[in-house]
Amino acid sequence: MANDSNKPASRQARFQAIISHCKEYGFIFPSSEIYDGLQAVYDYGQWGSELKKNIKDYWWKSMTQLHDNIVGIDAAIFMHPTTWKASGHVDNFNDPMIDNKDSKKRYRVDHLIEGFADEQSATGNEQLAKDVLASMDALIAKDDFAGLKKLIEDNKIKCPISGTSNWTDIRQFNLMFSTEFGSTVSADDENNKVYLRPETAQGIFVNFLNVQKTGRMRIPFGIAQIGKAFRNEIVARQFIFRMREFEQMEMQFFIRPGTQKEWYEKWKVTRLEWHKSLDMPAEKYRYHDHVKLAHYADAACDIEFEFPIGFKELEGIHSRTDFDLKQHQEYSKKKMQYFDNDVDPATGKPYGNYIPYVIETSIGLDRMFLAVMSQAYEEQDLGTPEKPDSRVVLKFQPKLAPIKLAVFPLIKRDGLPEIAKQIIDDCRSSFRCFYEEKDAIGKRYRRMDALGTPFCVTVDHQSKEDNTVTIRHRDSMEQERVAINKLKEIVLNAIG
Ligand code: GAP
Repeated sequence: MANDSNKPASRQARFQAIISHCKEYGFIFPSSEIYDGLQAVYDYGQWGSELKKNIKDYWWKSMTQLHDNIVGIDAAIFMHPTTWKASGHVDNFNDPMIDNKDSKKRYRVDHLIEGFADEQSATGNEQLAKDVLASMDALIAKDDFAGLKKLIEDNKIKCPISGTSNWTDIRQFNLMFSTEFGSTVSADDENNKVYLRPETAQGIFVNFLNVQKTGRMRIPFGIAQIGKAFRNEIVARQFIFRMREFEQMEMQFFIRPGTQKEWYEKWKVTRLEWHKSLDMPAEKYRYHDHVKLAHYADAACDIEFEFPIGFKELEGIHSRTDFDLKQHQEYSKKKMQYFDNDVDPATGKPYGNYIPYVIETSIGLDRMFLAVMSQAYEEQDLGTPEKPDSRVVLKFQPKLAPIKLAVFPLIKRDGLPEIAKQIIDDCRSSFRCFYEEKDAIGKRYRRMDALGTPFCVTVDHQSKEDNTVTIRHRDSMEQERVAINKLKEIVLNAIG
């Protein structure tokens, strides 16, 4: 039998179901929803913030704790305005945009064309979608704006608002948000604009020597950082996939010039392995080499994940050369060099002074959240013709689950709540627990399935006699009787 769940229309329906689930179960809310929300800005709720934090902690631990030669920092969002001139973002962080003259709406050209391609594949025109995307890639690589406009016109791509193809020419727009600083700086003054950082990476580059010197770091070494980034995305859609305020987990790995190819390949592999270590299926990942390289890169690829909206970029691996450090050296007039006293076998002398090359790994935390959520989400039909039944279960890897253990007294009396609360008191300092005494046990299980809680424990009258409880496993729904004093160990083993 053909698998219908892979059809674009059912993928869209699945995506919508995931979005609704996120809202209904306290994972993600539209920002300032009481005022009808703010486009492409989202808030993480009580369980979403736990899941997000668990992803963050796992990344941080894999990058810093498990690597002797990688340390973390937490730089400010605001940086000296010259940072963004040096990095090239003031001049180059642009996207080609096009306006529809009737609706006055502005679109990022690649998003408009991708939207058209998505529609085509949703209606079975896979080949046209592929051809259009291939033409777009080729034209973008050449900055051929006239060609891109022709592609839009030839395919009669319409504005989703006005429904017309009355387009302006394509122009470049900068994606950085700017603001004023204190009372002395005017935002109108181009030289004094303060930007909200569009990537966290620059906070690492400007601190390269601070960390290298105070940490006595020797090349090769890395600096990792997790933090907010801001981009004025013009067409921001697809839920948390493309937001205006988002979080990045980035690591800049400083290396000897000439070794970049080798390290680039190593980090490509290491990062894909990280994803797989979270039990994310290998077939849902692929590499996508960049056709058009960013202004700072000599090689770059995306690690793409198959989201419900198709294969899309989840993480970028970039060989950034010595571009950033060199630029900061030039603009700040401060040396950004490293003295390497390792001996070069070719000359028999130390490598000496140089500006290091950099391999960057950059993953969007919100996109990783979406990848984990869409992988975990499962609608299961558990019914029989006589007794219909179903559940939504989030099959998170236990270490990522917002709640690890839920404890239910079978009834609200006879000393059972006290035993349940004692179990929670014994475990809460080690992992997140949840107490629930309302509704039938079956209903409580379903609620925990929908939050992705891997273990539920029921305290019953037998517990009073022999200090055992029933533990129910989320994925298999199997139940077993275990000693209360073994519970903590069972959960700790599962969350590793
Ligand atoms: N420092 C390099 C850099 O920022 P990027 O490819 O522009 O590279 C890295 O961004 C990652 O950040 C992307 O792979 C994606 O996961 C995430 N990202 C970028 N723009 C985003 C947005 N508007 N919303 C959510 N995540 C975004």
